[in-house]
Amino acid sequence: MSDLRELYQEVIFDHNRKPRNFHGMANANHAAEGYNPLCGDKVKIYLKVDNGVIGDVSFEGSGCAISTASASLMTETLKGRTLLEAEKLFETFHTMVTGPEVAHLENLGKLEVLCGVREFPARVKCATLAWHTLHAALHDDHHTVSTE
Ligand code: FES
Repeated sequence: MSDLRELYQEVIFDHNRKPRNFHGMANANHAAEGYNPLCGDKVKIYLKVDNGVIGDVSFEGSGCAISTASASLMTETLKGRTLLEAEKLFETFHTMVTGPEVAHLENLGKLEVLCGVREFPARVKCATLAWHTLHAALHDDHHTVSTE
């Protein structure tokens, strides 16, 4: 295993063991729930948006290491971003894990540690669960979104 791959795995383990922003949010003004029907795992994303900027973001739920780490890294990355930047990050992340080739990944920062899931189709849904849920929350879609 290359050093880089080991480093990526260590970041994923760390975010799974100690998820950041892992709690509910009483004063959230955007929220959505997501569901992965392949495994039954669920995640809920909360956002506090003021003047088009994400002031706070958190998540709750239960899932595998990849889905928990992805949600944790996502919340860390989103704080202080505009809604437009959040939409772009969603698209870039989605391209990184599902696109035909890895390209234009500037601004992904630590999220790049999840690029390896593209080699494991079943894990792509784990990595994107929180992101599809974020997308629904940004659009105030109060239905539960599914990765299917
Ligand atoms: Fe359920 Fe990964 S196995 S989200």
